[in-house]
Amino acid sequence: MNILVLGSGGREHALAWKIKQSPLLDKLYCIPGNPGTKDLAENVNIDLNDFETIIRFVKNNNIELTIVGPEDPLVNGIVDEFNKNGLAIFGPSKAAARLEGSKRFSKDLMQQHNIPTASYATFDNIDDATAYISKLPSYPVVLKADGLAAGKGVLICSNQDEAFSAINEIMADKKFGKAGETLVVEQFIKGDEASIFAICDGENYCILPASQDHKKVGEADSGKNTGGMGAYAPAPLVDAGILAIVEDRVLKPTLKAMIDQGAAYRGLLYIGLIISEGEVHVLEYNCRFGDPETQAVLPLVKSDLVPFFMAAAGGSLKGMHLEIYDKCAMDVVLTSGGYPDSYAKSKPINGLDKVENNVIVFHAGTVYKENILVTSGGRVLNVVAVEKNFKECAKEVYTAINKINFEKMYFRKDIGFKVLK
Ligand code: GLY
Repeated sequence: MNILVLGSGGREHALAWKIKQSPLLDKLYCIPGNPGTKDLAENVNIDLNDFETIIRFVKNNNIELTIVGPEDPLVNGIVDEFNKNGLAIFGPSKAAARLEGSKRFSKDLMQQHNIPTASYATFDNIDDATAYISKLPSYPVVLKADGLAAGKGVLICSNQDEAFSAINEIMADKKFGKAGETLVVEQFIKGDEASIFAICDGENYCILPASQDHKKVGEADSGKNTGGMGAYAPAPLVDAGILAIVEDRVLKPTLKAMIDQGAAYRGLLYIGLIISEGEVHVLEYNCRFGDPETQAVLPLVKSDLVPFFMAAAGGSLKGMHLEIYDKCAMDVVLTSGGYPDSYAKSKPINGLDKVENNVIVFHAGTVYKENILVTSGGRVLNVVAVEKNFKECAKEVYTAINKINFEKMYFRKDIGFKVLK
């Protein structure tokens, strides 16, 4: 069958890499893809929010399955448009994607269904938000823009002044546009984060290996938040006991709540957790695979994922089980120096041909300029190793990284530090 992956990051390169191994595949397409997917698929340049042109392309090329990488097209309703045209697509409907598209929706749903999450309040106007913050007894506090804000709409404030200026940024200066028209103020919970990915068909689900992202730019989780500087899987933090809690207290009630709302969740449900002293709280839901976690999770999956994506889209996952390799995987992200603030682009990338075959390099912010591979984004490449333990993974990844270079290349040297101790 012909399959299409939508998106252009490291996550989409990893999805294309996995799908390419499927015996069910005839031809793979990526819209728009990146220089990494170019070696696996035909990259086609169409705007991801131009659903009409994408659907025409899908029909003209007999594409039988489409997999959506990023959240924007999902929140904007691409799945509904495909469904209207009788086309198979892996991802949630617009109504179901509100789990990521609206923080207020997801917090209200968790509260109504007793799904463990931090206590919160929501505000539609700046005066009420400011009055609430004035009376807060303790800090830190978490301020979240309600809508999609390209992963930047969550601010952790350590005192009242920071909270006041965050309210102003979000609600008065409209730093995140319409996404900040509603504000969620949330209790801060200290703990370790983990990411759970579940392939869902509305009612049934298959859970992928749990992973841990490294969101901070600096070593030992210091400095600014980024889109993710690296990840590893399986995260030992999510042991069988924690996983049972997640299934019973989070995953099952969430799927049931969505069915009750008339918005059955089909697609990849990403549950962002904070775990402290055996207690689990949901930090957020995302309606798609995580990046960079996917780049560490997919190489651990032995099963062909194409039947799972098809079954999820069609509502028939029941009885299906994923086979997982008994191995560890680690992904270190190479970034342009300066990221997550401003950084230079168009820097030639050297050394990829010297990387040994046991390491996978997934492209993210790269582009060909006059046949030369150059940087084009903050997160440039993902270097991934799969090994019997994390120590071996780290050795292989950092050996490979030593062979790659571009001007002002920056990466964290301590990915996986919590499992390497
Ligand atoms: N790794 C965080 C995210 O994908 O949102």
